[in-house]
Amino acid sequence: MEAHPAYVADVNLPGLPAPDDGLPDLMAAPPDMIVAFLDALDSVMVAELDAGRASLIYDEPETLPSLVDDDITGAQVKHVRQVAAIVGHVARDGMLDTDHLYVEPGAGKGSLVDGLGRALGVFSRSVFSKVSAGGAGPSTTSSDVGDEHADRPPLFVLLEREKRRWVAERGMRRSLALRVRIDIKDADLAALPDVDPTAPRVMVAKHLCGGATDLALYMATRTETLRDSFEAVYIAQCCYGKVSADTFVGMPFLAQRGLARYFSWIRRCSEWAISIEGASLDAPSLADWLASNARTSWRARCSVADDHLTVDDLPASLRVAIGYKARTLIELARAWYLESQGFITRRVEYVPLCVTPQNVLLVGLRPRPT
Ligand SMILES: C[S@@+](CC[C@H](N)C(=O)[O-])C[C@H]1O[C@@H](n2cnc3c(N)ncnc32)[C@H](O)[C@@H]1O
Repeated sequence: MEAHPAYVADVNLPGLPAPDDGLPDLMAAPPDMIVAFLDALDSVMVAELDAGRASLIYDEPETLPSLVDDDITGAQVKHVRQVAAIVGHVARDGMLDTDHLYVEPGAGKGSLVDGLGRALGVFSRSVFSKVSAGGAGPSTTSSDVGDEHADRPPLFVLLEREKRRWVAERGMRRSLALRVRIDIKDADLAALPDVDPTAPRVMVAKHLCGGATDLALYMATRTETLRDSFEAVYIAQCCYGKVSADTFVGMPFLAQRGLARYFSWIRRCSEWAISIEGASLDAPSLADWLASNARTSWRARCSVADDHLTVDDLPASLRVAIGYKARTLIELARAWYLESQGFITRRVEYVPLCVTPQNVLLVGLRPRPT
């Protein structure tokens, strides 16, 4: 099979040296190492809060009328609410416009493109409403779409390494979407065929697991030309435990704060945020928790003497809190990377925790001339 024109093996691997941290397994680590790690995590967290970088706002935009779809039922409701909130942020930032090119890495079925397409009015009804009802296919065909988009170059680029049966772009004119079956690590955005090279780009991604988010951030910023082509980046974070040292774009941020050597433990702890049985965040929202509880030291919640401490001694609720601190640091490190590439960033809790525990959206916006 002929390779896609955008395929360049490993083009988006930043080639970072994976630090040999020499750390033992966290669960079997000696007390002095665990204590040093938890103290370091706490002091960086407090410093970031003091500097105003770690706070979060709860911000779920009102759903755009074009995204209200009464046919959506069951598990799809939560999914659609996330899509609507992300599209709402895109709209509110003035990035919703058919002059843009939307790039969705890790697109899966293309749910964000589905939301963007409806918000932009290039098709009227989600293909997923029929899918969720067990129907036989897209409810909208290209004939439903106005002719003004007949000859234009793609508005959407979907990058996905897996083959998908139900895809958003089945509901729109074929020429509007370019789906490329490719691993993000191999996708050269400078070599996409048919797209308008002058169209300002917006990257959107939802739940792009672990290291794939870093690959996507690097993909968009690998060269100056690519970087300048992006006006905005929106990535809903997830699977922090799958970040990888050789691709993690925020490693310098951790290094500047003395935390790079703890990378594998930060990754491990980040999973505790949602995986500790019977324990959850002791606040109604992540934003509230960051404002009110994130400064609390682990020492205030654990009475075991330093020289006897094992991970098993940490109470479940404390492990959840440590997990959220680790996740926050991973997000802050990525925000730092985007800032280093000239973007202004914000992190928002874009839907409530009950919709998804992976509810932080990282936004990067290119400053506009005033
Ligand atoms: C959790 S799913 C989210 C799918 C979709 N964005 C959504 O919200 O419904 C993550 C998707 O990213 C894709 N993915 C993960 N790593 C990737 C990579 N390195 N290159 C291309 N696709 C990737 C997976 O195949 C999967 O479809």
